[in-house]
Amino acid sequence: MAFAELWDSLLPVGRDPRTSGYRRQAFTDVDLQCRVWFSNRALERSLRLQTDRNSNLWAWWDRPGGGAAVVTGSHLDSVPDGGAFDGPLGVVSGFAAIDLLRERGFEPSRPIAVAAFAEEEGGRFGLACLGSRLLTGAADPAAARELRDGDGVTLAAAMTGAGLDPAAIGPDEELLGRVAAYVELHIEQGSALDGLGAAVGIAEGIWPHGRWRLDFTGRADHEGTTRLPDRRDPMLPYAATVLAAREAAAAHGALATFGKVTAEPGAANAISSAVHAWLDARAPDEVTLLALVAEVAAAAREAAAAHGVEVGLRRESYTPPVEFDPGLRARLAGALAARGITAPALPTGAGHDAGILAARRPAAMLFVRNPSGVSHSPAEQAERADCEAGVVALAAVLEELAGR
Ligand code: GLV
Ligand code: MN
Ligand code: MN
Repeated sequence: MAFAELWDSLLPVGRDPRTSGYRRQAFTDVDLQCRVWFSNRALERSLRLQTDRNSNLWAWWDRPGGGAAVVTGSHLDSVPDGGAFDGPLGVVSGFAAIDLLRERGFEPSRPIAVAAFAEEEGGRFGLACLGSRLLTGAADPAAARELRDGDGVTLAAAMTGAGLDPAAIGPDEELLGRVAAYVELHIEQGSALDGLGAAVGIAEGIWPHGRWRLDFTGRADHEGTTRLPDRRDPMLPYAATVLAAREAAAAHGALATFGKVTAEPGAANAISSAVHAWLDARAPDEVTLLALVAEVAAAAREAAAAHGVEVGLRRESYTPPVEFDPGLRARLAGALAARGITAPALPTGAGHDAGILAARRPAAMLFVRNPSGVSHSPAEQAERADCEAGVVALAAVLEELAGR
């Protein structure tokens, strides 16, 4: 099947008609529709469908001799109002690459699989790459079961509601042992490839990054009657912390962002009793990252004290620096060069399941050009011809890794 037909079959699922962005949150009805889409694509290709213990989906092109597989894929969940490409491009390209290999009569010497990892964005339960972290033992299953979404629903309850078994989650050495290598194709989340005039690139590594939750607790009061000096308004230290984070990030050559904030009780005429905010911080190295977060935390404490507000800080998610397997990267580069494909090497500040798997298995990534560089937004875009070039590149890589 051509890329276009596969791509178009997924496109309507979870699209918000107001914004054209995607709301594909883990274990929701839309997620179930994505899972049905994946199952149908696997079954129509006679690929063996597996939902693993951690709700990740696998479509296996089994081989008689068995052996460890070359796995490709990505994720189908999105950030709230995300773009169409972040995640789905890798899954769709995986199926399309298998179609291309079969059209050519390619017979792999080892199994090939397409995977779709659960809750990669952490958009619902806060812990990014949840499915791959659980699989590889990088997340504690008991703690994961107790994670709550914005409505207070636990992961365990959400999984049960989706017909999945939360008691089963946890490390899966047997499945991991069946993965010889993981190669994730992903839209580039910057515009470096555009600048270099290349349709595809090879990831070098991922900056260390994490999420920290800050809870500012003050006192709700009447906005029309409470004198300014009498207030304990948590919005003020929160605002000071946003500005401090931006300044500290600039000083460190790093990134720090508050992209999510909630205020309680959330009334237009009541001073907030509490403000909950999420800091996303990323840096070229861990020392810088930890120094940056320490500075933001100190600024939050100082501003909170100045306004009679309490502040608590808790790390919700952390990914150490990742350097993708140099040997595997060299094989990717060689396979692409042999077919005349120029694929520059790129670092990235974005997190991926490939970064989590890299701690346990050889992993690598291919990026596809994104002319605007925009991602985590409905404006995310890749040209059809570049997506097709991505499929050709991925097929070349699968052929190299699973060939005789
Ligand atoms: C995942 O897309 C992340 O980097 O947050
Ligand atoms: Mn993303
Ligand atoms: Mn992604």
